[in-house]
Amino acid sequence: DIVSNKELLLDAKKNQYAVPAFNVHNLETIQAVIEGAWEMKSPVIIATTPGTVNYAGLEYLVAILKAGAKKYKIPIALHLDHCTDIDFLKNCIKGGYKSVMIDSSMEDFDTNINNTKIMVDFAHKLGVSVESELGHIWGQEEEIVINKRDALLTDPIMALEFVKKTGVDSLAVAIGTAHGIYKLEPKLDFDRLIKMNKIIDVPLVLHGASGISEENIKKAIQYGICKVNIATEIKIQFAEAIKKYFKENPDADDPRNYLSPAKEIAKNVVKEKINICGSRNRI
Ligand code: 13P
Ligand code: ZN
Ligand code: NA
Repeated sequence: DIVSNKELLLDAKKNQYAVPAFNVHNLETIQAVIEGAWEMKSPVIIATTPGTVNYAGLEYLVAILKAGAKKYKIPIALHLDHCTDIDFLKNCIKGGYKSVMIDSSMEDFDTNINNTKIMVDFAHKLGVSVESELGHIWGQEEEIVINKRDALLTDPIMALEFVKKTGVDSLAVAIGTAHGIYKLEPKLDFDRLIKMNKIIDVPLVLHGASGISEENIKKAIQYGICKVNIATEIKIQFAEAIKKYFKENPDADDPRNYLSPAKEIAKNVVKEKINICGSRNRI
């Protein structure tokens, strides 16, 4: 069945690996993640942004996930990613999500604490786990001036206070990654991560993992990351496969033909990331 992130991440923390979270957008990408995880015997998190919930429909997403979890009998979490809207979050929980991320990272510290606390109180009564973000993980479209970068990274002492005051189940930390791919792979602040991992006992989450090298993802896991978020790499590979198919078959019109190679390629990305995360053979 659909599980919450909590149990997955606590096992990952105990055994020093990370559970990959893949952002999906349609039936084919969901199947790619579930089949890839099943072939690797890996726990997995399927993430949808509010935009994807609006696009595909809450009931459709939950139903497809339930069908997949039943068919493959692996622990799968359905996670709402980067949601700023408390009503939207509550609605997804009512609809069957067992795991959510409240993203108030753009608010001031106290508002971020308050919003997170509201979600934690609501979610925990229903057995749902909550992730929150402190610091700012920026997007590729944002121009971050280099000397401003440090100010956006998560402060370890504030992170400790944040976790204590909110009771949040996992914390997304900013250590230099960004959403999307990079012109140049960023230098990650591992010292900061090591410090946070020493004083904070909830699992830490790495966003923006597309474009981060295998070596650095592994290092981040070694220093306390228990969940690795991947969105852009699957999106790009999926689109490239479709473009290639149409280039070779300009008259194609059967979705089963032009989406199958894209699904296979997405599945390969999933399996590759599972290997990097060390989550293979954990179930
Ligand atoms: P990427 O798009 O860089 O993989 O980031 C994914 C992410 O953080 C989803 O929350
Ligand atoms: Zn993210
Ligand atoms: Na990225």
